[in-house]
Amino acid sequence: MIKPIIISQKINSFKKIINVNGDKSLSIRWALLASQAKGKSRAHNLLRSQDVLNTLKSLKKLGVKIKLKKKYCEIDGQGLNNFENKKKIILNAGNSGTLGRLILGLLVHHRNKIKLIGDKSLSKRDFSRVINPLKKFGANFKYSSNYKLPIEIIGTDKAKPIFYDEKKGSAQCKSAVMMAALNTEGETFIKAKKSRDHTELLFKSLKIPIKIKKNKKIDLIKVKGKKQFSGFNYNIPSDISSSAFFIVLTMLSDNSKIQIKNVNINPSRIGIVTILKKMGAKIVFRNKKIYMGEKVADIFVESCKKIRSINCPTYLNSQAIDEFPIIFLVAAKANGISYFKDLSELDQKESPRLRIGSKILNMMGVKTILNKSSIKIFGNPNLKINQKIIIKNYFKDHRIFMMSMVAALSFGGKWKLHDPDSIKTSFPSFLNLIKKMKKK
Ligand code: S3P
Repeated sequence: MIKPIIISQKINSFKKIINVNGDKSLSIRWALLASQAKGKSRAHNLLRSQDVLNTLKSLKKLGVKIKLKKKYCEIDGQGLNNFENKKKIILNAGNSGTLGRLILGLLVHHRNKIKLIGDKSLSKRDFSRVINPLKKFGANFKYSSNYKLPIEIIGTDKAKPIFYDEKKGSAQCKSAVMMAALNTEGETFIKAKKSRDHTELLFKSLKIPIKIKKNKKIDLIKVKGKKQFSGFNYNIPSDISSSAFFIVLTMLSDNSKIQIKNVNINPSRIGIVTILKKMGAKIVFRNKKIYMGEKVADIFVESCKKIRSINCPTYLNSQAIDEFPIIFLVAAKANGISYFKDLSELDQKESPRLRIGSKILNMMGVKTILNKSSIKIFGNPNLKINQKIIIKNYFKDHRIFMMSMVAALSFGGKWKLHDPDSIKTSFPSFLNLIKKMKKK
């Protein structure tokens, strides 16, 4: 067990330029798609976190050749649907819902039985959301009555394209079906509630036949399968979800400024920026460019003296789905009551984040009214913490650990934060960057 971290002092004002780690969603998607390409693919700035390392390990078990060098990662793809046909393969997705769900899409055509397992947190999460659509392609599954890991998949060589109505706004579900469609003859049709569109953008830049019609609340996506594509290089931009902790730390600290370089600002991911700007934040994107269909920019943030409360529009939920715990901290300091609704999906993450987020605010002395899918946060612009707070038993959720650290550095109090190694899931350099922020 790694020792807990004690924080007993607010951070001093800072002016910094930082780089955060590579984007997790893009890193996992690059590796999975590189495994289906013909020839070598290289990624620079690939996120070296547990979720991504588990992706590489799983692909290796399926016979994919991977070199992880200091400066890059290289995958030698054998082409579509060409995983090795070994018996008794067990894939461990660790903590990663994205890996667990997307890789099942690639296994729909794999003839041997494969077992998928995960850590304690992932084994509590729902897999019916991908098992059901993937069964429609023709894959067979073995699972317990609650659709939780471990599960077994036995693919088919007679897969048929499907129509899939994705109603949760889940990019993992949409992308699992797109991965299955990639190897399926014919046209798969997806009607998807809005969610992050990295898989669509990657398909487009790889010239995989895809048609997308964007409506206000849903996207209509058609993927024509079996079109082989070549190996491709990718310079992974930084992760907005990791940047979010430093955006909020800067907002909540006095006389501070930060520049975060080369961040992926895909419009389907920047709900946090829209929400924080509505609450009064000073956030600017500069040096904007487009790379592999993805928007990238440097993010500039300054301290925010007056924070307004928000009645958060639900259309922003999927664009900020991983950022709500850290957004709740901003609401805790707002002038007035903030309201976030329709957020039942938050309790389907690495931990029940709606509940745990609310509990941490309560420990900080902030009043909340929590319902099944909504939370009201009674903000206090003069919030100061004097008491002791212990953060423990939160399913080792990386984002809850980092939220607590930002709270400790912004509001004071004496905090004991257990399981600091949880950051390895998504943001291994988090604690080093915090050290850098503290240095004069
Ligand atoms: C992700 C999608 C989201 C998000 C997760 C990463 C992805 O999950 O919470 O961290 O890379 O597709 P859902 O699809 O379950 O909303």
